[in-house]
Amino acid sequence: MAEVELSGRVVLVTGAASGIGAACTARYAAHGATVIATDVDDAAGKRLAADTGIRYRTLDVADPAQWALLAEELEADPGRLDVVHLNAGIRQGIGDITELDDDAYQRIIGINQHGVFYGIRATVGLLERTGGGNVLVTASRASLGPLAQDLGYVMSKHAVAGLVRSVADDLRTRGVHINAICPATVDTGFVGGHRARLEAAGIEVMDPEEVAAGAMTVLGSDLVGQCFVQLAGKPPEPFKFTAVPGR
Ligand SMILES: NC(=O)c1ccc[n+]([C@@H]2O[C@H](COP(=O)([O-])OP(=O)(O)OC[C@H]3O[C@@H](n4cnc5c(N)ncnc54)[C@H](O)[C@@H]3O)[C@@H](O)[C@H]2O)c1
Repeated sequence: MAEVELSGRVVLVTGAASGIGAACTARYAAHGATVIATDVDDAAGKRLAADTGIRYRTLDVADPAQWALLAEELEADPGRLDVVHLNAGIRQGIGDITELDDDAYQRIIGINQHGVFYGIRATVGLLERTGGGNVLVTASRASLGPLAQDLGYVMSKHAVAGLVRSVADDLRTRGVHINAICPATVDTGFVGGHRARLEAAGIEVMDPEEVAAGAMTVLGSDLVGQCFVQLAGKPPEPFKFTAVPGR
């Protein structure tokens, strides 16, 4: 699969201040894109802007009003949008359902699940008016199977995979290609400095830059509505879902 051409394109990234989002932001900018990096961590976002010259803006993906405002701003300046990378996400590590209280549950669903829904809804119009484009969602390998150790996370990541697979055909009629990238374990704040311990236990851990390279490949794909699994040392591959009985 070829990498996407980003020269002269406008790319919006959420959760861009660290980890996978920061690596993707750097990669898109290196390929000639004008990147609008967004996050809730303003200190890290401003450091990224100071270090790279990339435009940074606060965006809490869980807040639909902030999405509406951002969409209005983008409509005015730069007046186009080519790629939206919905990457922001949190993990909690709560596997005991009785410990997942209302606040924690609503927080993770709000960011990981609602944040993706709001993001697509707010930006699809400008992507279409630009003449078409791409939406890439950072889902997870946890979008594709159970994860007993993090119930809110696995629910939210299954939900976004379902949305990507379901909305893809309609978006394609508007010229917008949507896919998800589903990485295995990546050395970011999520891993919390435990890479050596994980690797000693036989779990392969990727650098965020490897996911950024994978994101370029997924964005260059002609496929839509796919969940591209990315494992360490391997290119992203569309996950083969089994057929639904009776369809
Ligand atoms: N690290 C992994 O092993 C791994 C594996 C699969 C998928 N993912 C997914 O990758 C994405 C990025 O995670 P990461 O591993 O780079 O972790 P990270 O913690 O380094 O980055 C997540 C970013 O999202 C931001 N964020 C948190 N809440 C937000 C909100 N409400 N609005 C906007 N931004 C917000 C954080 O400030 C942070 O900069 C997440 O969606 C995560 O689920 C990570």
